[in-house]
Amino acid sequence: MNVRFAERSTLRAVRAYRDKESSNGEDGTHITFDLSSNELALPPLPTVLGGIEERLPQLARYPDPTARDLTSEVARHLCVSADELAVGPGSAGVLQQLLLALCGKGDEVVYAWPGFDAYPLLVAISGATSVQAPLTASGGHDLDEIRTRVSARTKVVILCSPHNPTGATIDHDELRGFLHSLPDHVVTVLDEAYVEFDRGSDPPGTPGLLREHRNIVVLRTFSKAYGLAGLRVGYAAGPQQVMAAVRKAAIPFGVTRFAEQAAILSLRSEGELMERLAAAAAAREELTAGLRTLGLPVLPSRANFVWLPLAGAAESFTRAAASAGVKVRSYPGHGARISVGETEAHRMLLAALGQKDHGAEF
Ligand SMILES: Cc1ncc(COP(=O)(O)O)c(C=O)c1O
Repeated sequence: MNVRFAERSTLRAVRAYRDKESSNGEDGTHITFDLSSNELALPPLPTVLGGIEERLPQLARYPDPTARDLTSEVARHLCVSADELAVGPGSAGVLQQLLLALCGKGDEVVYAWPGFDAYPLLVAISGATSVQAPLTASGGHDLDEIRTRVSARTKVVILCSPHNPTGATIDHDELRGFLHSLPDHVVTVLDEAYVEFDRGSDPPGTPGLLREHRNIVVLRTFSKAYGLAGLRVGYAAGPQQVMAAVRKAAIPFGVTRFAEQAAILSLRSEGELMERLAAAAAAREELTAGLRTLGLPVLPSRANFVWLPLAGAAESFTRAAASAGVKVRSYPGHGARISVGETEAHRMLLAALGQKDHGAEF
Protein backbone atom coordinates (compact mmCIF):
# COMPACT_ATOMS: atom_id res chain seq x y z
CA MET A 1 0.00 0.00 0.00
CA ASN A 2 1.37 3.41 -0.92
CA VAL A 3 1.46 6.02 1.75
CA ARG A 4 -0.75 9.03 0.99
CA PHE A 5 1.06 12.25 1.64
CA ALA A 6 0.90 15.80 0.43
CA GLU A 7 4.18 17.54 -0.22
CA ARG A 8 4.06 21.25 0.55
CA SER A 9 2.90 22.71 -2.78
CA THR A 10 5.77 25.20 -3.10
CA LEU A 11 8.29 22.35 -2.76
CA ARG A 12 6.99 20.54 -5.85
CA ALA A 13 8.61 23.06 -8.16
CA VAL A 14 12.12 22.89 -6.62
CA ARG A 15 14.86 20.30 -6.35
CA ALA A 16 17.01 19.42 -3.36
CA TYR A 17 20.07 21.65 -3.14
CA ARG A 18 22.51 20.77 -5.96
CA ASP A 19 21.18 17.20 -6.02
CA LYS A 20 22.13 16.54 -9.64
CA GLU A 21 25.75 17.55 -9.26
CA SER A 22 28.59 15.08 -9.28
CA SER A 23 32.15 15.57 -8.13
CA ASN A 24 33.30 14.71 -11.66
CA GLY A 25 32.70 16.60 -14.87
CA GLU A 26 29.47 15.76 -16.74
CA ASP A 27 31.27 13.38 -19.07
CA GLY A 28 33.07 11.74 -16.15
CA THR A 29 36.25 13.87 -16.48
CA HIS A 30 38.26 13.81 -13.29
CA ILE A 31 38.04 17.10 -11.39
CA THR A 32 41.32 18.15 -9.78
CA PHE A 33 40.21 21.55 -8.48
CA ASP A 34 36.74 22.57 -7.39
CA LEU A 35 36.23 26.29 -7.99
CA SER A 36 32.45 26.05 -7.88
CA SER A 37 31.55 26.81 -4.23
CA ASN A 38 33.42 29.99 -3.29
CA GLU A 39 35.35 28.27 -0.53
CA LEU A 40 38.61 29.65 0.85
CA ALA A 41 41.54 27.75 -0.64
CA LEU A 42 43.52 27.92 2.60
CA PRO A 43 43.69 25.67 5.68
CA PRO A 44 42.22 26.89 9.01
CA LEU A 45 44.55 28.79 11.36
CA PRO A 46 46.41 26.49 13.83
CA THR A 47 44.75 28.22 16.82
CA VAL A 48 41.32 27.46 15.35
CA LEU A 49 42.20 23.81 14.70
CA GLY A 50 43.58 23.50 18.23
CA GLY A 51 40.34 24.86 19.69
CA ILE A 52 38.31 22.24 17.85
CA GLU A 53 40.62 19.42 18.93
CA GLU A 54 40.32 20.48 22.56
CA ARG A 55 36.59 19.92 22.40
CA LEU A 56 36.64 16.49 20.76
CA PRO A 57 36.34 14.62 24.11
CA GLN A 58 32.96 16.33 24.61
CA LEU A 59 31.42 14.65 21.56
CA ALA A 60 28.92 12.71 23.69
CA ARG A 61 27.41 15.96 24.97
CA TYR A 62 24.97 18.29 23.24
CA PRO A 63 26.23 21.78 22.55
CA ASP A 64 24.83 24.87 24.27
CA PRO A 65 21.46 25.30 22.50
CA THR A 66 21.74 29.08 22.69
CA ALA A 67 25.41 29.28 21.58
CA ARG A 68 25.72 31.95 24.26
CA ASP A 69 29.50 32.40 24.11
CA LEU A 70 29.54 32.89 20.35
CA THR A 71 26.53 35.20 20.54
CA SER A 72 28.36 37.41 23.08
CA GLU A 73 31.51 37.42 20.95
CA VAL A 74 29.58 38.44 17.81
CA ALA A 75 27.67 41.08 19.83
CA ARG A 76 31.00 42.67 20.84
CA HIS A 77 32.30 42.39 17.30
CA LEU A 78 29.30 44.15 15.73
CA CYS A 79 28.55 46.52 18.63
CA VAL A 80 25.01 45.19 19.03
CA SER A 81 23.29 43.43 21.95
CA ALA A 82 22.88 39.65 22.17
CA ASP A 83 19.09 40.13 21.74
CA GLU A 84 19.75 41.52 18.30
CA LEU A 85 21.47 38.34 17.11
CA ALA A 86 20.67 34.82 16.00
CA VAL A 87 23.43 32.30 15.30
CA GLY A 88 22.76 29.14 13.34
CA PRO A 89 24.12 26.32 11.18
CA GLY A 90 25.58 28.45 8.39
CA SER A 91 24.03 31.67 7.18
CA ALA A 92 21.85 29.50 4.93
CA GLY A 93 20.53 27.89 8.12
CA VAL A 94 19.85 31.28 9.70
CA LEU A 95 18.13 32.51 6.54
CA GLN A 96 15.94 29.42 6.56
CA GLN A 97 14.99 30.17 10.18
CA LEU A 98 14.13 33.76 9.25
CA LEU A 99 11.97 32.75 6.30
CA LEU A 100 10.19 30.06 8.33
CA ALA A 101 9.60 32.57 11.11
CA LEU A 102 8.31 35.42 8.91
CA CYS A 103 6.69 33.82 5.86
CA GLY A 104 4.06 31.30 4.92
CA LYS A 105 1.59 30.35 2.23
CA GLY A 106 0.58 33.28 0.01
CA ASP A 107 3.49 35.47 1.11
CA GLU A 108 6.17 36.64 -1.29
CA VAL A 109 9.92 37.02 -1.02
CA VAL A 110 11.63 39.31 -3.54
CA TYR A 111 15.27 38.98 -4.60
CA ALA A 112 17.53 39.58 -7.59
CA TRP A 113 18.23 36.76 -10.01
CA PRO A 114 20.60 35.12 -10.77
CA GLY A 115 21.47 34.93 -7.09
CA PHE A 116 22.57 32.43 -4.42
CA ASP A 117 20.95 29.23 -5.60
CA ALA A 118 19.66 28.31 -2.14
CA TYR A 119 17.26 31.31 -2.11
CA PRO A 120 14.51 29.71 -4.24
CA LEU A 121 14.73 26.50 -2.22
CA LEU A 122 14.65 28.20 1.19
CA VAL A 123 11.69 30.35 0.12
CA ALA A 124 9.86 27.24 -1.10
CA ILE A 125 10.55 25.44 2.20
CA SER A 126 8.89 28.32 4.04
CA GLY A 127 5.78 27.93 1.88
CA ALA A 128 6.17 31.41 0.38
CA THR A 129 6.59 32.31 -3.30
CA SER A 130 9.74 33.69 -4.89
CA VAL A 131 9.51 36.91 -6.91
CA GLN A 132 12.70 37.52 -8.87
CA ALA A 133 14.03 40.77 -10.31
CA PRO A 134 16.69 40.98 -13.05
CA LEU A 135 20.18 42.28 -12.35
CA THR A 136 21.59 45.33 -14.12
CA ALA A 137 23.93 44.81 -17.09
CA SER A 138 26.88 45.28 -14.73
CA GLY A 139 25.65 42.48 -12.49
CA GLY A 140 24.34 44.78 -9.76
CA HIS A 141 21.03 45.03 -7.95
CA ASP A 142 18.43 47.15 -9.68
CA LEU A 143 16.80 48.47 -6.52
CA ASP A 144 14.05 50.24 -8.51
CA GLU A 145 13.12 46.96 -10.24
CA ILE A 146 13.12 45.20 -6.88
CA ARG A 147 10.97 47.96 -5.37
CA THR A 148 8.36 47.61 -8.13
CA ARG A 149 7.98 43.94 -7.20
CA VAL A 150 7.21 44.67 -3.55
CA SER A 151 3.49 44.26 -2.88
CA ALA A 152 1.09 43.80 0.01
CA ARG A 153 2.08 40.11 -0.05
CA THR A 154 5.83 40.78 0.28
CA LYS A 155 7.22 39.77 3.67
CA VAL A 156 10.93 39.73 2.93
CA VAL A 157 13.32 41.27 0.38
CA ILE A 158 16.74 39.61 0.12
CA LEU A 159 19.66 41.71 -1.10
CA CYS A 160 23.17 40.33 -1.46
CA SER A 161 26.35 42.44 -1.35
CA PRO A 162 28.85 41.55 -2.71
CA HIS A 163 26.40 39.71 -4.88
CA ASN A 164 26.68 35.99 -5.55
CA PRO A 165 27.30 35.25 -8.45
CA THR A 166 28.46 38.57 -9.92
CA GLY A 167 30.59 40.12 -7.14
CA ALA A 168 28.89 43.55 -7.50
CA THR A 169 28.19 45.57 -4.36
CA ILE A 170 25.26 47.73 -3.31
CA ASP A 171 25.96 51.38 -2.56
CA HIS A 172 24.96 52.11 1.06
CA ASP A 173 23.36 55.45 0.23
CA GLU A 174 21.16 53.79 -2.39
CA LEU A 175 20.41 51.06 0.12
CA ARG A 176 19.33 53.65 2.71
CA GLY A 177 16.94 55.21 0.17
CA PHE A 178 15.56 51.78 -0.65
CA LEU A 179 15.01 50.88 3.00
CA HIS A 180 13.18 54.20 3.57
CA SER A 181 10.93 53.53 0.58
CA LEU A 182 9.62 50.18 1.83
CA PRO A 183 6.28 49.68 3.55
CA ASP A 184 6.61 48.68 7.20
CA HIS A 185 5.44 45.07 6.67
CA VAL A 186 8.64 44.25 4.76
CA VAL A 187 11.91 43.07 6.32
CA THR A 188 15.04 43.41 4.16
CA VAL A 189 17.76 40.81 4.58
CA LEU A 190 21.19 42.05 3.50
CA ASP A 191 23.23 38.92 2.81
CA GLU A 192 26.86 39.83 3.43
CA ALA A 193 28.38 36.36 3.04
CA TYR A 194 31.34 37.85 1.14
CA VAL A 195 31.62 41.26 2.78
CA GLU A 196 35.11 40.66 4.20
CA PHE A 197 36.50 40.29 0.67
CA ASP A 198 35.28 43.78 -0.22
CA ARG A 199 38.64 45.32 0.55
CA GLY A 200 39.58 48.80 -0.47
CA SER A 201 36.01 50.08 -0.30
CA ASP A 202 34.64 52.11 2.60
CA PRO A 203 34.25 50.10 5.78
CA PRO A 204 31.08 48.03 5.37
CA GLY A 205 29.29 50.16 7.96
CA THR A 206 26.88 47.43 8.89
CA PRO A 207 26.55 48.44 12.57
CA GLY A 208 25.52 51.93 11.40
CA LEU A 209 22.86 50.52 9.10
CA LEU A 210 21.50 48.39 11.93
CA ARG A 211 21.27 51.42 14.22
CA GLU A 212 19.60 53.64 11.62
CA HIS A 213 17.01 51.23 10.24
CA ARG A 214 14.54 49.00 12.02
CA ASN A 215 13.63 47.01 8.88
CA ILE A 216 17.00 45.43 8.06
CA VAL A 217 18.59 42.15 9.05
CA VAL A 218 22.24 41.54 8.15
CA LEU A 219 23.33 37.99 7.41
CA ARG A 220 26.97 36.93 7.83
CA THR A 221 28.88 33.67 7.72
CA PHE A 222 32.08 32.04 8.94
CA SER A 223 32.12 29.87 5.80
CA LYS A 224 33.86 32.19 3.39
CA ALA A 225 36.57 34.63 4.58
CA TYR A 226 36.97 32.76 7.89
CA GLY A 227 37.40 29.47 6.00
CA LEU A 228 34.99 27.41 8.14
CA ALA A 229 32.53 26.22 5.46
CA GLY A 230 32.75 22.64 6.71
CA LEU A 231 31.68 23.56 10.25
CA ARG A 232 28.40 25.30 9.34
CA VAL A 233 28.10 28.46 11.36
CA GLY A 234 26.72 31.89 10.55
CA TYR A 235 24.58 34.60 12.12
CA ALA A 236 22.03 37.33 11.56
CA ALA A 237 21.83 40.73 13.27
CA GLY A 238 18.70 42.84 13.31
CA PRO A 239 15.80 44.23 15.35
CA GLN A 240 15.22 42.41 18.66
CA GLN A 241 11.68 41.21 17.91
CA VAL A 242 12.64 39.82 14.53
CA MET A 243 15.68 38.08 15.99
CA ALA A 244 13.60 36.55 18.79
CA ALA A 245 11.36 34.99 16.12
CA VAL A 246 14.40 33.80 14.13
CA ARG A 247 15.87 32.11 17.23
CA LYS A 248 12.57 30.28 17.86
CA ALA A 249 12.67 28.75 14.37
CA ALA A 250 16.08 27.16 15.00
CA ILE A 251 16.65 23.45 14.88
CA PRO A 252 17.65 22.48 18.45
CA PHE A 253 21.43 22.24 18.94
CA GLY A 254 22.04 23.36 15.34
CA VAL A 255 25.40 24.97 16.15
CA THR A 256 27.90 22.38 17.35
CA ARG A 257 30.40 23.22 20.11
CA PHE A 258 33.19 22.78 17.52
CA ALA A 259 31.61 25.33 15.23
CA GLU A 260 30.99 27.66 18.15
CA GLN A 261 34.55 27.46 19.43
CA ALA A 262 36.11 27.77 15.96
CA ALA A 263 33.98 30.83 15.22
CA ILE A 264 34.94 32.49 18.54
CA LEU A 265 38.64 31.83 17.93
CA SER A 266 38.30 33.10 14.35
CA LEU A 267 36.81 36.39 15.51
CA ARG A 268 39.67 36.73 17.98
CA SER A 269 42.20 36.05 15.20
CA GLU A 270 40.46 38.34 12.79
CA GLY A 271 43.56 40.45 12.05
CA GLU A 272 45.47 37.35 10.96
CA LEU A 273 42.56 36.04 8.91
CA MET A 274 41.93 39.34 7.19
CA GLU A 275 45.59 39.54 6.17
CA ARG A 276 45.02 36.42 4.12
CA LEU A 277 42.27 38.19 2.25
CA ALA A 278 44.76 40.55 0.63
CA ALA A 279 46.19 37.48 -1.11
CA ALA A 280 42.70 36.40 -2.17
CA ALA A 281 42.01 39.87 -3.62
CA ALA A 282 45.33 39.82 -5.52
CA ALA A 283 44.58 36.33 -6.88
CA ARG A 284 41.13 37.51 -7.99
CA GLU A 285 42.64 40.41 -9.92
CA GLU A 286 45.23 38.11 -11.54
CA LEU A 287 42.55 35.64 -12.56
CA THR A 288 40.44 38.47 -13.98
CA ALA A 289 43.38 39.80 -15.97
CA GLY A 290 44.27 36.30 -17.24
CA LEU A 291 40.73 35.64 -18.44
CA ARG A 292 40.46 39.05 -20.08
CA THR A 293 43.75 38.46 -21.90
CA LEU A 294 42.04 35.45 -23.47
CA GLY A 295 39.31 37.77 -24.70
CA LEU A 296 36.73 36.60 -22.16
CA PRO A 297 34.28 39.04 -20.56
CA VAL A 298 34.80 39.33 -16.78
CA LEU A 299 32.94 41.77 -14.52
CA PRO A 300 34.80 43.58 -11.72
CA SER A 301 34.23 41.63 -8.49
CA ARG A 302 34.52 42.56 -4.80
CA ALA A 303 34.22 38.95 -3.62
CA ASN A 304 36.29 35.73 -3.82
CA PHE A 305 34.94 34.77 -7.23
CA VAL A 306 34.60 36.25 -10.70
CA TRP A 307 31.65 36.31 -13.05
CA LEU A 308 31.69 35.87 -16.80
CA PRO A 309 28.43 37.09 -18.38
CA LEU A 310 28.50 34.47 -21.14
CA ALA A 311 24.72 34.15 -21.58
CA GLY A 312 24.04 31.08 -23.77
CA ALA A 313 27.70 30.03 -23.78
CA ALA A 314 27.85 29.45 -20.01
CA GLU A 315 27.47 25.69 -20.27
CA SER A 316 30.08 25.17 -22.98
CA PHE A 317 32.51 27.28 -20.93
CA THR A 318 31.83 25.17 -17.83
CA ARG A 319 32.39 22.00 -19.87
CA ALA A 320 35.68 23.34 -21.22
CA ALA A 321 36.82 24.12 -17.68
CA ALA A 322 35.79 20.64 -16.49
CA SER A 323 37.70 19.01 -19.31
CA ALA A 324 40.78 20.79 -17.92
CA GLY A 325 40.00 19.27 -14.50
CA VAL A 326 38.55 22.46 -13.00
CA LYS A 327 34.97 22.64 -11.81
CA VAL A 328 33.30 26.05 -12.10
CA ARG A 329 29.64 26.98 -11.68
CA SER A 330 27.37 27.38 -14.65
CA TYR A 331 24.26 29.56 -14.61
CA PRO A 332 22.69 28.43 -17.89
CA GLY A 333 21.56 31.38 -19.98
CA HIS A 334 23.35 33.86 -17.72
CA GLY A 335 27.03 33.14 -17.21
CA ALA A 336 29.69 31.24 -15.32
CA ARG A 337 31.21 31.86 -11.90
CA ILE A 338 34.78 30.93 -10.99
CA SER A 339 35.84 30.91 -7.34
CA VAL A 340 39.27 32.30 -6.52
CA GLY A 341 41.30 29.21 -5.70
CA GLU A 342 44.72 27.67 -5.71
CA THR A 343 47.36 29.26 -7.99
CA GLU A 344 47.75 25.92 -9.74
CA ALA A 345 44.00 25.74 -10.42
CA HIS A 346 44.06 29.16 -12.08
CA ARG A 347 47.13 28.18 -14.08
CA MET A 348 45.52 24.93 -15.31
CA LEU A 349 42.29 26.68 -16.20
CA LEU A 350 43.90 29.57 -18.08
CA ALA A 351 46.29 27.25 -19.91
CA ALA A 352 43.46 24.99 -21.05
CA LEU A 353 41.24 27.87 -22.12
CA GLY A 354 44.15 29.47 -23.95
CA GLN A 355 45.14 26.32 -25.82
CA LYS A 356 41.79 25.49 -27.29
CA ASP A 357 40.16 27.44 -30.01
CA HIS A 358 37.09 28.37 -28.05
CA GLY A 359 36.33 31.42 -30.19
CA ALA A 360 33.27 29.82 -31.76
CA GLU A 361 31.95 28.50 -28.45
CA PHE A 362 32.11 31.45 -26.10
C1 LIG B 1 25.31 34.73 -0.92
C2 LIG B 1 25.44 33.57 -0.01
N1 LIG B 1 24.76 33.60 1.14
C3 LIG B 1 24.83 32.59 2.00
C4 LIG B 1 25.61 31.49 1.72
C5 LIG B 1 25.57 30.35 2.68
O1 LIG B 1 26.71 30.21 3.39
P1 LIG B 1 26.74 29.32 4.68
O2 LIG B 1 25.43 28.65 4.85
O3 LIG B 1 27.85 28.38 4.45
O4 LIG B 1 26.99 30.28 5.78
C6 LIG B 1 26.32 31.40 0.54
C7 LIG B 1 27.11 30.23 0.23
O5 LIG B 1 27.61 30.01 -0.84
C8 LIG B 1 26.22 32.48 -0.36
O6 LIG B 1 26.86 32.47 -1.53
